[in-house]
Amino acid sequence: MHQEDILIIAYLISSVLFIIGIKELSAVKTARRGNFLAALGMFLAVVVTLWDQKIIGYELIVAGFILGALIGTIMAVKVAMTGMPQMVALLNGFGGIASLLVAQAEFVHGSNHPVPIGVSIVLSILIGGVTFTGSMVAFGKLQGIVTEKSVMFPMQHLLNALLILIAFGLGTFLSIGGEASTEALHSVGLGFLAGDTLSYTIAGISLLLGILLVIPIGGADMPVVISLLNSYSGIAAATTGFVLENTVLIITGSLVGASGIILTQIMCKSMNRSLMNVLLGGFGQTPVAASGETKEITIKEIGVEEAAMVFETARSVVIVPGYGMAVAQAQHVVRELSELLEKHGAEVRFAIHPVAGRMPGHMNVLLAEANVPYEKLYEMDQINDDFSNTDLALVIGANDVTNPAARHNEASPIYGMPILNVDKAQTVVVIKRSMRSGYAGIDNELYGYDNCLMYFGDAKDAVGKLIAEIKANLN
Ligand code: TAP
Repeated sequence: MHQEDILIIAYLISSVLFIIGIKELSAVKTARRGNFLAALGMFLAVVVTLWDQKIIGYELIVAGFILGALIGTIMAVKVAMTGMPQMVALLNGFGGIASLLVAQAEFVHGSNHPVPIGVSIVLSILIGGVTFTGSMVAFGKLQGIVTEKSVMFPMQHLLNALLILIAFGLGTFLSIGGEASTEALHSVGLGFLAGDTLSYTIAGISLLLGILLVIPIGGADMPVVISLLNSYSGIAAATTGFVLENTVLIITGSLVGASGIILTQIMCKSMNRSLMNVLLGGFGQTPVAASGETKEITIKEIGVEEAAMVFETARSVVIVPGYGMAVAQAQHVVRELSELLEKHGAEVRFAIHPVAGRMPGHMNVLLAEANVPYEKLYEMDQINDDFSNTDLALVIGANDVTNPAARHNEASPIYGMPILNVDKAQTVVVIKRSMRSGYAGIDNELYGYDNCLMYFGDAKDAVGKLIAEIKANLN
């Protein structure tokens, strides 16, 4: 068998592994295996690519591998769960710049490209560049290095549209390739751009566009943008696959591109926002008290003793975790609380909102880490009708995803966002540190409801004390 044939078969196997991996990632039970299979596919793809005869020297590859692995390992170990969106932004950005550099090198070193390859080079440079700087701005916003606020100036969208048009126009000249491209540029008075200058100009425009497209988006919308940029990085990789005529890169790039866009859509839907609305910016720019009515809310505050009594009498409990549980790293004590309640005869389930936390699956990952059995985790649609038959809903560090204003207050910025119907439970206990708002920057009317009790404190601390109190009472 020729080396070329082995390469094709190996690429086919790794592509199949990627596809099965993604399929398995869609269910909590099989997610670990899915991740492993996809990693195995990537390992195989890397090994056979390195073995490919087109490699001219291993020194730089090995050096890059060691350096990259070192930095990657340190970052992966150090990153907090709440810092994951920033980490993903960086990784997307690196994917984008890699595509841009490869396409750029192919153009500079190659001679006459056929038009389809020329088109792929242009797309790789354009999408790769936008992904790189866009992701860096997103990273900066989330990390607090760049202002989180939406940055807007007059005629911004017009300027962006103009730059996109220019980039595509110049891209057409580049795609033609060779002498024909130079002649065409001269004929329209752009002869000074002939040769490598053309590709550098397109790269420059794409890098500028990445910044301009992301600065108007409020820091609060960054998770959605990061998912979109993730999709872009996949598309850039796929087009680079065409440039290099590498099938596995085309397939993986397409998988990332498609899954990124699906995820973006799921997030938008769960927040009741259109993608256009996110991309044009504005949300999260001002603290949105724009709901019209800033009614004073009268709350009922309870201490640990009263909270313990409520928990001891409840027979059915639904725990609703949110971003605050992640911040406090309270998942382990929450699991302990659930086991304690079950030991004393209560039925305990967890209700997971699709955008609880700051990234898709955030709560599932945390609860799995704390060994909460998968079958106790219920998606919003599975459990929402059950709240009316529930004695107690414990809302821990969640806010917007429980705000009943989303159901009836048309003036609310979250109107129409599907929420968990915790207010329908007989009693609701909310654990948070203060009356501060959540991600959407608005008051939660739930806190003023008759059946809602506020138990203030850091999630981990408050649950720890609650466990101690219940144990003291029941043992
Ligand atoms: P949020 O509405 O952001 O509320 C989190 C609450 O946690 C805050 O009100 C905060 O109140 C409390 N908190 C913070 N630290 C705490 C601690 N140490 N102990 C106890 N409580 C603490 O969270 P959510 O309900 O999970 O909603 C998620 C939001 O993010 C939604 O608006 C959603 O649209 C948005 N979003 C999510 C995603 C994804 S994919 N998950 C993507 C984009 C946007 P205190 O400060 O008073 O403690």
